[in-house]
Amino acid sequence: MKHRHVIDLEDLTFAQLQQVIELAGKIKADPSKYSHVCDGKILATLFYEPSTRTQMSFQTAMLRLGGKTIGFDNPMNSSVAKGESLKDTITVVSGYADIIAMRNPIEGAAKAASLYSSVPVINAGDGGHLHPTQTLTDIVTLHNEKGRLNHLKIGLCGDLKNGRTVHSLIKTMSHFEGNSFVLISTPELSVPDYIKEIMIKSGCEFTESQNLKDSISDLDVLYMTRIQQERFSSKEEYEAQKGVYILDKEKMSLAKKDMIVLHPLPRVDEITVEVDDDPRACYFKQAVYGMYGRMALIILLLEDSNYFFHDNKTKVIVKDAVCPNERCITHRESYLPKAFVKSGSQLFCDYCDHSLDS
Ligand code: NCD
Repeated sequence: MKHRHVIDLEDLTFAQLQQVIELAGKIKADPSKYSHVCDGKILATLFYEPSTRTQMSFQTAMLRLGGKTIGFDNPMNSSVAKGESLKDTITVVSGYADIIAMRNPIEGAAKAASLYSSVPVINAGDGGHLHPTQTLTDIVTLHNEKGRLNHLKIGLCGDLKNGRTVHSLIKTMSHFEGNSFVLISTPELSVPDYIKEIMIKSGCEFTESQNLKDSISDLDVLYMTRIQQERFSSKEEYEAQKGVYILDKEKMSLAKKDMIVLHPLPRVDEITVEVDDDPRACYFKQAVYGMYGRMALIILLLEDSNYFFHDNKTKVIVKDAVCPNERCITHRESYLPKAFVKSGSQLFCDYCDHSLDS
C-alpha cells in the first residue's frame, strides 16, 4: 500500500532517508533559495502534549518555506475537551491543512490518525512509543558532526524504557553497518523487549550497563535522556529513578576527544550546565539541525510526487483481540480496526508494536 505518512522513520527507505539528509544540507547552506517552496501550503500542528522544540521547529520550518501554520498546543482549547474522537478531529483538520504534525500521549495515536487523514500525517511523538522526526534530527546531526551514520558505538543513557526518542533512534541506527549500542540505565528503565529484538534481528551488537562512568571511555556518541516523569504511575517511582545518571565535567574527561554528546532536550538535571561549554556538547546545535531536517521532510512530502512510502507488512484484523499494552490507542478509541502485523508466527499490534503474546 502506498502512503505519505511518517509514523516510524522506517517508513522511509535508505535512499529516501539519504534524500532528506542531503536536502537538509542544501537548505542549511542556502536557505533563501527555499523560502517560497511551500507558498500557499498549510501545516497543522496538533499537540496533545507539551512541546517546545518539536512544535516550534515544525512551525518555523513551514514559515521559512513560505507556508502557514494552524493548530493547537492545548487540546483543552479544542473540541477534544468536548469529547471529540481522534478520528473526527483528523478527518476535519485534513480538510483544512495540507500536512499534519501530531503529538499525542497515547502510544499508536499517530498510526490511528493516519487511517483517517487525506493528507500526510507526521508523528511528532506518540506516548512512550516513537518519535521519528527527533531521529531525523539526530541523524542529520550525526551526518554533519561525525561525518557518518555507520561504525559508531552509541551509548544511550537514562530512561530507555519510556524515552520514545531512544526507541526510534535504535530502530533506525541498527540498520546501518557496524553500529553498536551500550544501553546505560537502571534495570527498571531498560529498553523494551521489542526494541531488543530489533537489535538482535539486525545482528547489531549491544551491551547493557548500569554505570555511565565505566561505559563512557570508548563511545563515539553519548545520547543522554531525561527521566520521563509524565510516564510514571507514581511520584515515588519517579523519585527513585531521578538523578541516577548525571553527565558532568569529570565524566567528560574520561571520554574520547571526538565523542559527541546528544540530547533530544529538554534537559532536567542529567547534564550539568558546565558541560555546555565543552566543544563535544552538540545538543543545542542538534535542535537547529532538526529544523532543517523537518524543512526537507515537508518539502519532499508536499512537493515531490515520487516521495511516497510502501507499507508491505502483512496485516490481519483479529476482531476480538485486545492489545496487551494498556497505553495503546486501541484501548481509548474503540472504533479502530484491531489490526496486527504478522511476523513469523507472532502478531504485533499495528499501532504500538507490542506483541499480542506479551
Ligand atoms: C523529547 C520528546 O518529546 O520525546 N523531546 C523532544 O521532542 N525534543 C524528549 C523528552 O521529552 O525528554
